[in-house]
Amino acid sequence: MSESTSIDVLLKERRVFDPSEEFVEQTNVKRWMNKRGIKSYDELLEKAKDLKWFWGEVSKDVVEWYKPYQKVFEWNEPYAKWFIGAKYNIVHDALDKHVKTYRKNKVAYIFEGEPGDVRKLTYRDLYVEVNKLANGLKSIGIKKGDRVGIYLPMIPELPISMLACAKIGAIHTVVFSGFSVGGLQKRISDSEAKALITCDGFYRRGKIVPLKSQVDECLGACHSVEHVIIYRRSMEEIQWKEERDHWWHALTEGQPTECPTEKLDANDTLYILYTSGTTGEPKGVISAHGGYAVGTALTLKWVFDMKDEDIWWCAADIGWVTGHSYIVYAPLILGATSVIYEGAPDYPNPNRWWKIVEKYGVNILYTSPTAIRMHMRYGEKWANKHDLSSLRLLGSVGETINPEAWMWYYKHIGKERCQIMDTWWQTETGSFVISPLPITPLKPGSPTRPLPGFTAEVYDEGGKPIKEGGGDLYLLPSWPAMLGGLYKAPERYVKTYWSKLPHMYLTGDKARRDEDGYFWIQGRADDILKVAGHRIGNYEIESALVSHKKVAEAVVIGKPHEIKGESIVAFVVLKEGEKPDDTLRKELREHVGREMGKLARPDEVWFVKDVPKTRSGKIMRRVVKARVLGAPLGDISTLRNPEAVDEIAFAT
Ligand code: WTA
Repeated sequence: MSESTSIDVLLKERRVFDPSEEFVEQTNVKRWMNKRGIKSYDELLEKAKDLKWFWGEVSKDVVEWYKPYQKVFEWNEPYAKWFIGAKYNIVHDALDKHVKTYRKNKVAYIFEGEPGDVRKLTYRDLYVEVNKLANGLKSIGIKKGDRVGIYLPMIPELPISMLACAKIGAIHTVVFSGFSVGGLQKRISDSEAKALITCDGFYRRGKIVPLKSQVDECLGACHSVEHVIIYRRSMEEIQWKEERDHWWHALTEGQPTECPTEKLDANDTLYILYTSGTTGEPKGVISAHGGYAVGTALTLKWVFDMKDEDIWWCAADIGWVTGHSYIVYAPLILGATSVIYEGAPDYPNPNRWWKIVEKYGVNILYTSPTAIRMHMRYGEKWANKHDLSSLRLLGSVGETINPEAWMWYYKHIGKERCQIMDTWWQTETGSFVISPLPITPLKPGSPTRPLPGFTAEVYDEGGKPIKEGGGDLYLLPSWPAMLGGLYKAPERYVKTYWSKLPHMYLTGDKARRDEDGYFWIQGRADDILKVAGHRIGNYEIESALVSHKKVAEAVVIGKPHEIKGESIVAFVVLKEGEKPDDTLRKELREHVGREMGKLARPDEVWFVKDVPKTRSGKIMRRVVKARVLGAPLGDISTLRNPEAVDEIAFAT
């Protein structure tokens, strides 16, 4: 039987992947249930509807407050506060508490650089590095509430920087190192960062990516930044600006190895993380210390069943929320050992990841459908070269995992032994929301049901609840890691998340619920693309195109792509007299790459005379997309220029 027929059969039989009883009994969640006499998962879900009881009870297992809270949470629509009255700092749980126990000698991070260099940092090592940097930051005047930009690749100095900021109560805002000058500039200006931590350069596919030069270019327009701290990674020559620039090693040299952890309010801001929305301006999602610590640590402990002896590898980038929550904060709170890998997954060969799994004995691997599909295309022969028997659980995040990729991952990586935790969540939710636990029967392609302590609902356009069927996906307030608003944009916060139906959080995703209450995520309902797991707004790419001197107008849509999930297709109207040709096509792609980063470069650029617009002049992306995909156009009676629709079809 060929691979695809066997999948068809499995899906037709609606086979459910059930974990064994023996495995279930050993899990963290089952032990927790047994202790409390909770017999079934449904009973747990039912009991957890009492949010105050549930989150209060589980918080005892994962965090230590300096001063206990008086109230578990308060909902003051559209803002939630969690663990009210508690004095807290997430760094206490991530580092300080561990160095007083046997964990001080335990490895917190195993780092492997792309060239093959390896560093292992124990909790004590990490603690010392964080304290020295925190003291260094203080010495240049950084204090509680100040924003610090962090623009670093996947090296241990990235978590060290985040923790050093959190330790002194400063707010970090990490910018993904794959963004270029334009993307960095928008985020640094909006957050009004006082300092920026970066490095000279880093390794990607055997080449050096120069980060500091991008910073120099960006800072011409970001006047808030008084200090730039540069870690030496690639030994690149860099330009130097006296007084503003500091070498990391010089700033931290001789600094005391102890630094008091600021005792904050549990609701004080930990970070701002920018994410794409439907306008050109990214949204600054705010997260607080206390609720975020409880929400992320508990979900990691239960969903990935993290045990003290485990080696955990979340192969995301710390520049996105997955890395914030599940490489930095949650694993450290749980005292885990995590792998951090700097480079490309297929460099120098497609077996790089499997080599890492074997070398360090990784027990739990968490990645994205895009990465799985890429490895699937290279073929299982690369994984088969290595002993992957250490793996116990697998995970997926970022987009819907197609059943073919699910089966390949299950069969060739997990060797039909490992359950796959398909976790649905967002930058805004901070932690997993809809996800199986290792005790949950799985259906390939579905993240199953909301976790205990979370409620998700599906509603149709008319606001009618759908028990079985499809519609908009909403969450009911609140959960501990829920965003605390958008930085400097309270109106946008209300408009984006709280305006479609009353008292419910609009996720922006479409979902279907089946007869077992399982959710099937059908992608974004709004103008946000998911390209190789990266979240990018259509509008942001259009703005980048329009900022080119030869472009008058642009419309960008996503088209299904076998590996990346979506590819970026741009339709461009040139200014009067400009000549459309392949050179310009290439130039426009490069231009977007420079403005935003390579991740946003259109895969296809088409030149058209006009793009479909409403009478009020709004570009109809929906119509363009339908035309490209050959789907029904829907209502086009409001179009001012219906002939532009035909031109789209002609172009592709
Ligand atoms: C999508 C990433 C299907 C979804 C953690 C969501 C998923 C957006 C899944 C958030 C999943 C995330 N199945 N779709 N398991 N996980 N998504 O903010 O569209 O980068 O709204 O957070 O990714 O992307 P973000």
